[in-house]
Order: sequence, then C-alpha cells, then structure tokens
Amino acid sequence: MKNWIIIGATSAIAESVCRLWAVRGYSLFLVARNQSKLDTLANDYQVRGAAKVHTHLLDVNATDSHQPCWDAALDAMGRIDGILIAHGTLPDQKACEASYETALAEINTNALSVISLCTLAANEFEKQGTGNIAVISSVAGDRGRQSNYVYGAAKGMVTLFLQGLRNRLFASGVHVLTVKPGFVDTPMTTEFDKGGPLWATPDQVAAGIVSAIDKKRNEVYLPWFWWGIMMIIKNIPEFVFKRLSL
Ligand SMILES: NC(=O)c1ccc[n+]([C@@H]2O[C@H](COP(=O)([O-])OP(=O)(O)OC[C@H]3O[C@@H](n4cnc5c(N)ncnc54)[C@H](OP(=O)(O)O)[C@@H]3O)[C@@H](O)[C@H]2O)c1
Repeated sequence: MKNWIIIGATSAIAESVCRLWAVRGYSLFLVARNQSKLDTLANDYQVRGAAKVHTHLLDVNATDSHQPCWDAALDAMGRIDGILIAHGTLPDQKACEASYETALAEINTNALSVISLCTLAANEFEKQGTGNIAVISSVAGDRGRQSNYVYGAAKGMVTLFLQGLRNRLFASGVHVLTVKPGFVDTPMTTEFDKGGPLWATPDQVAAGIVSAIDKKRNEVYLPWFWWGIMMIIKNIPEFVFKRLSL
C-alpha cells in the first residue's frame, strides 16, 4: 500500500499522476485550495481504484498551516510514504520587474512554500527512516532568461535546495526526486502558442514522474530530450547569452 500526499492536487500534471496511482490502488491525500474541484477529483480516483482518497484545503503560502496539513494526512492515512509537490504559478514577468512585492509573492508561492513543505517532510521522513519527496521544479530553473527570470530564480532555488536535501537525506533512506519539465500543455501555459515537437501533454509528464519515483531517480528532465536542450543552453558562454533574446 502506498500513501501519498499531493500538494497542488488540482494541477493538470498532478491530476495525471493521481490517475495512474489510483489505478494502482494507492491512498491519496489531495491538497489544494478549491474544495469542489477536489471533490470531483476524489470521486474520479475512487472510481479508478484508489484505496482511499482524502481532501484537504490549503493555500500553500499559509506556511503555518503546513504542519496541521501533514498531521491531518497522517491521521487520515495512518502512515505517509511520499509527498508530491506540484503547485506553482507562472508570473507576469513584466509585473515582477515593475514591483518587488509582486516578484516576492511569486517567489513565495514557487519557492519558499516548497522549501517549507520539504523541510517538514524531510524531518518527518527522517524520523520514520523512509519516505519519498518528489517536487516539480522546471527547466526554467537551469538558467536565467530575460523573459521569465523571476519564475526561473524560484525554480532554481527549489532545484538547488533539493540537491542539498537529497545529499542530507541519502543516509537516512529518504528519497528526493527533482522533476524538470519543459513545455507542458496545461492551464498554466494557456497564454502560449502551443504545438510543435517541444510541447508535451500532462499524461506524458505524469508517466515520467511515476516511473522516476519507482526507479528512485534523482533528477529527471521530462520529456527526456530537455536534458540535451538544457545542456546546450547552460553551456552558452555568458558574454554570448546576454546578447540573446530568450
Ligand atoms: N506547464 C508547464 O509548461 C510547466 C513546465 C515546467 C514546470 N511546470 C510546473 O509544474 C507544476 C504543475 O503545473 P501545471 O503545469 O500542472 O499547471 P496548473 O494546472 O496551472 O497547476 C498549478 C496548480 O498550482 C496551484 N496553486 C497555485 N498557487 C497556489 C497556492 N497559493 N496554494 C495552493 N495551490 C496553488 C493551482 O491551484 P488553483 O487551481 O487553486 O489556482 C493549480 O492547481 C508547477 O510547479 C509548474 O511550475 C509546469
């Protein structure tokens, strides 16, 4: 039996992951801020075969509510085997450039709330001597670009934090996975011109996440070819990179 907490359970990618886990008969503790969406999802996963589905309301920026959320999950499921952190927002870069407060709010949602949740999960799993922490970061965190460097900085912070956390938790048997998707067709990217070989579906990315957790991978680019794209992007010398319009 696998018991998972899913933070940002109404995200399109998280929904696809949960459909796969429901079929396997996992127990799911769905966390998001919209109760009616949570109810619809819970019914769906129950029909697909989930052992138990629980729901919990949380705005991730209310960090004081993170421990009560964890405690509610433990109470509901008896044991927690893993936490998938999937929430996020794609900031308006121009608005962030104009206002430090806007930039900070985005960094709170995309990075600091994740760090709070990971700190909590790490300490609980360390005591337990086992557990899985899987977090959706982004290829955007691999290098800052003018078009989205506030989002990129937040995701970069998450990626680096998870590297250190993985190193810390290795000895205690707790697994940490960093997921770096490229372009995914979800509500987050509604404004984008979609289509073409670089775009993936939430189902494709979810299959990669589930497989990476099963195989205890450390970092995955999804789809895999983003590894090559980011290798090139990361290696462009800064004196060239700063002249590009990316
Ligand atoms: N789509 C892409 O191209 C792409 C690429 C790389 C990485 N990612 C990452 O993948 C993850 C999933 O995103 P997605 O593409 O599946 O987008 P999505 O469907 O728009 O999901 C984003 C989710 O985050 C939740 N959320 C935002 N702020 C929140 C808050 N303060 N408290 C609680 N929940 C909050 C939203 O909840 P509400 O419905 O209540 O707003 C929504 O369920 C995110 O971390 C994103 O950064 C996405």
